[in-house]
Amino acid sequence: MIRVEKLGENEVFILETDKTSYVFMADKGGSLVQLYYGARLGLCDREEAHVEADAVRRAVLAMMPKYVNPNGCSIIMDNDEPNKCIDDLRLEMSSRGKGDMREAFVELLYDDGSRTSDFRYKGYRLSEEREVPCGLPSAYDDAGADRDFSLVVELADRNSGAVMELVYNVYCECDCITRFARIINNDSSVIIVKRLMSAQLDLDMGAAKVVSFHGDWAREMNKSELVLEGGKYVSDSSTGFSSNKANPFIMLCGLETSEESGECYAANLIYSGNHRECVEIGAHCKTRLLTGINPDFFEWRLEAGESFCSPEAVLTYSDTGYQGISENMHGFVRSHIVRGKWKKKERPILINSWEAMYFDISERKLLQLAKTAAGVGIELFVLDDGWFGKRNSDTTSLGDWYDNKEKLPNGIKGLSEKIRKLGLGFGIWVEPEMVSEDSDLYREHPDWAVAIPEKAHALGRNQMLLDLSRREVQDYIIESMSDVFRRGSVSYVKWDMNRHMSDYYSRALSAERQGEFAHRYILGLYRVLGELTERFPNVLFEACASGGNRFDLGMLCFMPQIWASDNTDAVSRANIQNGYSYGYPQSVIGAHVSGCPNHQTLRITPLETRFNIASAGILGYECNLCDMSSDELSQIKEQIRLYKEWRKVLQFGQLYRLGSGGRKGSMYDNDAVCWEILSWDRKKAVGITMQSLVLPNFSHRSFRTKGLCETAEYHFYNRKLKYDIHRMGDLINTSVPVHIKQNSVTHNIISKFVKLDGEIEDFSLLGSILNKSGVQLCQSYAGTGFNPQTAIYQDFDSRLYMIEAVGD
Ligand code: GLA
Repeated sequence: MIRVEKLGENEVFILETDKTSYVFMADKGGSLVQLYYGARLGLCDREEAHVEADAVRRAVLAMMPKYVNPNGCSIIMDNDEPNKCIDDLRLEMSSRGKGDMREAFVELLYDDGSRTSDFRYKGYRLSEEREVPCGLPSAYDDAGADRDFSLVVELADRNSGAVMELVYNVYCECDCITRFARIINNDSSVIIVKRLMSAQLDLDMGAAKVVSFHGDWAREMNKSELVLEGGKYVSDSSTGFSSNKANPFIMLCGLETSEESGECYAANLIYSGNHRECVEIGAHCKTRLLTGINPDFFEWRLEAGESFCSPEAVLTYSDTGYQGISENMHGFVRSHIVRGKWKKKERPILINSWEAMYFDISERKLLQLAKTAAGVGIELFVLDDGWFGKRNSDTTSLGDWYDNKEKLPNGIKGLSEKIRKLGLGFGIWVEPEMVSEDSDLYREHPDWAVAIPEKAHALGRNQMLLDLSRREVQDYIIESMSDVFRRGSVSYVKWDMNRHMSDYYSRALSAERQGEFAHRYILGLYRVLGELTERFPNVLFEACASGGNRFDLGMLCFMPQIWASDNTDAVSRANIQNGYSYGYPQSVIGAHVSGCPNHQTLRITPLETRFNIASAGILGYECNLCDMSSDELSQIKEQIRLYKEWRKVLQFGQLYRLGSGGRKGSMYDNDAVCWEILSWDRKKAVGITMQSLVLPNFSHRSFRTKGLCETAEYHFYNRKLKYDIHRMGDLINTSVPVHIKQNSVTHNIISKFVKLDGEIEDFSLLGSILNKSGVQLCQSYAGTGFNPQTAIYQDFDSRLYMIEAVGD
């Protein structure tokens, strides 16, 4: 809901969602001053709008800063407002050179060399149609025409003919507000945009805790919490892409805010290129959050009459800690970012050939893998890297998207037909934004690769980027990919991108426009993705960038899921997926069960744990099923049966990060994760726990749910599992009459027939009991005895708990 009120010389803008309000005003001098962002004030309640005008006026008067005396050496912008220092105000938008000394929202370079802008309020419009940033993906609302449309606030630059429009959209049910800015050059001379951010939040919160997410290849999304008392903190990417180094999702909260309580703000950007999030505590203790395109490696030349839009940013607020933020952001991503046929559709369980055979593929081996996969219930076969050109390693052939007939004599067409006959869908891996120097494409079009002419260029994973800022390159990708997708009649595409940007340059741009290259690349990418997803509306696209090197809302506008990390080790994954869970729902996170020892860490984890962690995402398998024992295959078959039964809850339910049974934050907290995923009707939930290392003599665990219907009766149970006797090592000798040497032939033979029974958890309880007291779980083995009710809960062991409402 949006409401605009004229109060004296001030224009007040009120944006309200179901649980939040965002209020700012244009003051007499034309500055846009932020008044409030937080829990809902109810200033927009329409039926009472008429009678409430006076209440709104009084509320705004109370919130307004009082300009009484100037501050010492501060800059006074206008002579007729001698007491107003903008450095001490909370601003909706700020620029450099007029007295606000903090990080700026906009920076322009004029043709006389000056850089001081002076944007003042000009007016507003309630646009009839949702306004979106030109050429960029954006949020959408398919809820119908009764929604408010965009609020557009216009500002004019007193120092030039530039006009700025700040565009706002409100997403009520998930308590999100989006913002972006548009600059229009109505001047007769060129203006260089040095920066144009997407959102600025100036909050009255003093010291703040900043929560951001960092990492690198194979270790994405580590949560960083930092207390900022003064100065600036920057989380950014200048890799060319949103990056695995710093995700654009960021939270800002009070020092006491925790998982479940306290005030928290969050921002994310609908953009896949370089981004910058800056938190600054100014000298007057106002806390500023800015998010937008990273001004590093960026500038944009605006000729007279041209305009430029920043990407859309999404903002949200919760007074129920990080959990509230996650709920808002998950809802937003599910309803207003992900689109198309797969938006609400359960995603297929896939088998991917990469970790199973890397480049060493052949039609025979692939079909064997597919056959085994079909036998255990897998639904989709994904042919990963190695199928095209002369691709036997990562040094060659990117760009040559024709079949490698040595490996696939019948091409992807023949292979896919055979795969479909096995009852599986056929999916394919491509990396269309790249070119290998050793490729026909590069030999034909060396100028299409990103490099500075006559200068040595850098490689990343032995490859170069194609210059997607060029229309002919975009067209080549669209046509070559359309041909691949048609040839293979694919139902799934894994769209990979495996390096950072370097040697920023496009031969198609003039010298003075080279600063536009990185952003133009992303605009080109979006054109390609828009065209292909429109041509192939039924295909399920999964984005990938060496795992999570481009895990962002921009990609999610085209592709409903993203491969979260190349690291498939369950222990690493638990942390990575937990990191993503703050800002992204499980329905967008690709997660696979892989071989053991794990290929990235060489760690050994139980198959059950690998499944449990992957089941909190879009499940796939990425291992050589053909080499697995019949025991393992039947375990996998059972996992898949279970996942299918609970898939809707697991993929689309609400995830809660729970505290580990009474030990959270203590030195005894050894739970790597403790999650619950709850269905929307609250009739079903799944609990997922995984422990890091065993704590000796600490065998009691409990599980407490969240969100169950307090008055409904639930059946809480675990999976009835059997464990290999090798797990007890030579302790077998404590229960057999003859001595058995560990790992001897006898030991191995016995292990085929005798299994250890897993513990049984079985409760029928009211939701209130499960939510409040929780259940005490079976005691874990602790070195002092063993019986069938003892849980074998070793290093990296994990459990799934199923929770189902009984009756109606
Ligand atoms: C990247 C991807 C992997 C795999 C390989 C293939 O690393 O992230 O999943 O597809 O490329 O080369």
